[in-house]
Amino acid sequence: MTQRTLVLLKPDAVRRGLVGEILSRIEKKAGWTISALELRELGRDVLEQHYAEHVGKPFYEPLVEFMASGPVVALVVEGERVIEGVRALAGPTDPIAAAPGSIRGDFGTIVRENLIHASDSEESAQREIKIFFPGLA
Ligand code: PPS
Repeated sequence: MTQRTLVLLKPDAVRRGLVGEILSRIEKKAGWTISALELRELGRDVLEQHYAEHVGKPFYEPLVEFMASGPVVALVVEGERVIEGVRALAGPTDPIAAAPGSIRGDFGTIVRENLIHASDSEESAQREIKIFFPGLA
């Protein structure tokens, strides 16, 4: 089942020099391809669209503030079961609960600074790719 997913390497990943390491884990998965990639700063307008479903939750403001705190790397990855697969590489939201071997399990400690976002469904992937790479949608 070939899919596309939207991945963001968050400001902590960029600041800490983990972009190459994380991209390398994604690139090494058999048959997956990075089909778009951009380093960019996210304005509040883009973040409000991207995180629209979380408006009103207690973590919403800290999350938006953090995501605007420095550049992110946005990418689209294509391949076999890539939506589920990138989320498995990332590990669960809380890095302390994430298993060693996952990106969050290996490099994270703080929930807010959990290094990577990946779309959670085909519907989210379509919506998010449209926000970040309108030319691809
Ligand atoms: S939910 O309510 O189950 O949908 O939430 P969850 O999927 O766990 O998280 C949604 C996004 O919010 C981020 N998050 C947080 N950011 C800052 N602080 C706290 N405490 C926090 N808790 C969750 C989480 O990383 C998700 O963002 P993305 O960009 O998808 O990783």
